[in-house]
Amino acid sequence: MENIYKNKIHLEPPTGLLNDPNGLCFFNDTYYLFHQWNRFKCDHSYKEWGLFTSTDLLNWKHQGSAILPDTPKDSHGVYSGSAITADQRLRIFYTGNTRNKLGLRKSYQNIAESTDGHTYIKKSSFETPLGLTENNRDPFVFKYKDLWFMIVGSQTTEYNGVVTLYTSSNLDKWSYQGIFFQSSELLQMCECPNLINFESIQILLACAQRKDRVLDTVISSTTGYFVGKISKDKFIATTKFLPLDYGFDFYAPQVLKAPDGRYLLWGWMSNMSAAEEKACPTINFGYLHCLTIPREIAFEKGKLIQRPLREILNASTLLIQNTDKIFNFNQTNKALLLQIDFNDSISDFTVNFATGAATLHHQKGKLILQRHNWSSNEIESRYVSIDKVEHLKIFIDLSAVEIFINDSSKVLSMRYFPNHPIKTHTFFCKDTHVVTLFEL
Ligand code: FRU
Repeated sequence: MENIYKNKIHLEPPTGLLNDPNGLCFFNDTYYLFHQWNRFKCDHSYKEWGLFTSTDLLNWKHQGSAILPDTPKDSHGVYSGSAITADQRLRIFYTGNTRNKLGLRKSYQNIAESTDGHTYIKKSSFETPLGLTENNRDPFVFKYKDLWFMIVGSQTTEYNGVVTLYTSSNLDKWSYQGIFFQSSELLQMCECPNLINFESIQILLACAQRKDRVLDTVISSTTGYFVGKISKDKFIATTKFLPLDYGFDFYAPQVLKAPDGRYLLWGWMSNMSAAEEKACPTINFGYLHCLTIPREIAFEKGKLIQRPLREILNASTLLIQNTDKIFNFNQTNKALLLQIDFNDSISDFTVNFATGAATLHHQKGKLILQRHNWSSNEIESRYVSIDKVEHLKIFIDLSAVEIFINDSSKVLSMRYFPNHPIKTHTFFCKDTHVVTLFEL
């Protein structure tokens, strides 16, 4: 059976299940992108860190396993975390998940390090501080002024989501400073906090989970950010929790500060339920999930901007430019970029993906994305309100679509699984606009 879902520009695991991007860093002239990985099965029963590397952000090589759950302090999973390169060493900060005989969770924040980027030596660990539950994970380390900060996604014993803080002057010895940020918008649990420092302001990214207190199970989860400022050992938000992505499939983003100063963000391109994961057609080919394409993050005119990685745009090849009211194009085994530049009198339009497997409609100031759900068989929608659509950049991979709107402050992500080897996509509109198709 031919795999018609294998993506070209979205990173996928060679086998098994991939989730969060982890430990993003630049070490020895190479980009390191670790990830949560069950290399054995397409489920969440086992977690280690796998690794992709690249020297140009375009061509990635999967290097296999990097860190295994092989000590008493990470026996039930090498969970998410981050990396820092300093003093010719790559330092990893991750959560070791453990369970006792009764199945009760205990988490450790663990530190490992490598001098060659191949062998990781586990060094030290610390336990969950008082006042928090063992849902305490995903350390993210960054430098702020002259100090190292480690923020952790936590849950108080009152069952509220918070971000907690450790600080260090040398990356080895850490001291707990208490709660860095709390908000009712972090619901019952915070996962994967990240911080972007734009000097005059800071952005705190977080995933918030609604949880059942008795069963300790997840009811729903969302990803967003707060704009604000660090003041001593606290983050003071000046906005509410704003969405990072308006589509279906986006979670656990992580940022990398590239050597040229750009902040690059990858997300796990999934927010699938257990039923959707089970029914996902890529499982027949032995793997599940992908990452988003990298996004360049900026803060301009008071807004967070996410632009598609410029290396991807620069490497694209123009296929055709068109101003017809109906534009049909076929996709076989290539990723495409559909760029639409609207003239001033924008009217309603539709992009039909793979003969109706998914659609994007513009109607009454809203962009509505709909797809046929492969598990429930129902049509489901997401939408974003938009004053005026000026341009769209739509990255159409073989089972992943990412839509960047206007100056890219708003993005929608979607997995979909059309069952045609040749997919026909259509753009139609009552007026004429400039539509350009690129191969990626
Ligand atoms: C987010 C997450 C993290 C955790 C990891 C386990 O998707 O739940 O909080 O560290 O996945 O795979």
